[in-house]
Amino acid sequence: MRFLLRLVSLLVVLVALAAAGGLTYLYAKYPDVPAASATYRIESTPDRVDRGRYLANHVAICMDCHTERDFSKSAGPIRHDKLGAGGEKFDNFNSGVPGTLYAKNITPAALSTWTDGELLRAVAEGVSKDGTPLFPLMPYPNYGQMAEDDVMAILAYVRSLAPIESHVPERSLDVPVNFIVRTIPRKAMFGTRPSPSDKVAYGEYLVMAASCADCHTPRDAQGQSLPGMAFAGGNEFRDPENGYRVRSANVTPDADSGIGAWTEEQFINKFKGFEVPDDHVLTDAERRQNTAMPWRMYAGMTREDLGAIYAYLRTLKPVVHRVDKWPDAQAAAR
Ligand code: HEC
Ligand code: HEC
Repeated sequence: MRFLLRLVSLLVVLVALAAAGGLTYLYAKYPDVPAASATYRIESTPDRVDRGRYLANHVAICMDCHTERDFSKSAGPIRHDKLGAGGEKFDNFNSGVPGTLYAKNITPAALSTWTDGELLRAVAEGVSKDGTPLFPLMPYPNYGQMAEDDVMAILAYVRSLAPIESHVPERSLDVPVNFIVRTIPRKAMFGTRPSPSDKVAYGEYLVMAASCADCHTPRDAQGQSLPGMAFAGGNEFRDPENGYRVRSANVTPDADSGIGAWTEEQFINKFKGFEVPDDHVLTDAERRQNTAMPWRMYAGMTREDLGAIYAYLRTLKPVVHRVDKWPDAQAAAR
């Protein structure tokens, strides 16, 4: 008996040691990203800031996540007086995140002490100034594949934001995601931006930069895309205040359950319909059919860019997947 007890306690110690060794390894090796470059410089020109404003607001939608949204209005417009000040909360309830995240303040009030290299590393590789690995709800794996001059344009724009002081709470991640998150940041592998004349390739680039798949491709509990379901929709989001659900649409070319029957014109006009702000406070029935899709941000894309996105989406494998987008809508309103 005593022997058995001793064996058990030995095992316990061994397991604890292995775990501690594993942890030491995890902390020593990860995040596996080089130190922030001391020589990288964001070369800001007016053209670059304009390009960055376009990308950050309408394509990569940095400003959508990094600004508080008001879901009492159609498609949750951002609070323009708080542009970039952060604080928007993403948790298991509203976005299925394994923990609670807050978008950070990315105005100069928070980032003025960051070097350009540190800013680049956070946005393109997912490691904060102090070495903290960022959770990939922030789509840095995509930004690290964009063209390097597009990323520089975004950073030049971010540096030009008006400083706004804000207090953003600390994140908390569930076990074991708090450990796993260390292994996610990767060295950026900047790509090239295809020529807009190659509509499909250019559209694919925009869809990557805009992280459409992050919301439109269903995933398992580990965050892996479900095989054969690319862009087939069904990811659930909730209105942070009343919990009404909205599920992302099937945007594959299936004629019936996807957007196969949409013409390019209809597709572009659907986005452009959100350019004219309709800021009335939604009725309860309307709010049951509100959406997390940042239509208002994407609406600022050029018709050419939206057309390229359409062209790319047409090349996807059609998936038959009927999504009930608004399960909490009242029967009469549907
Ligand atoms: C889908 C929402 C989302 C989008 C889009 C997004 N971010 Fe983030 N971002 C976040 C969240 C959430 C965090 C904090 C992550 C964490 O704490 O792990 C963050 C962190 C950051 C940080 C690190 C700040 C710090 O103090 O550590 C920077 C810088 C940043 N984002 C800039 C950007 C830029 C620039 C873009 C656009 C190219 C962008 N973000 C797009 C949600 C987003
Ligand atoms: C934050 C999550 C999110 C992101 C990012 C997102 N979507 Fe959506 N999308 C949704 C949700 C939720 C719906 C369903 C509700 C609605 O129609 O607005 C939707 C609906 C749509 C629809 C309407 C389809 C229909 O049948 O009515 C299209 C088209 C679409 N998204 C395309 C895109 C494209 C293209 C991108 C990238 C440029 C994108 N989405 C990015 C969440 C998202």
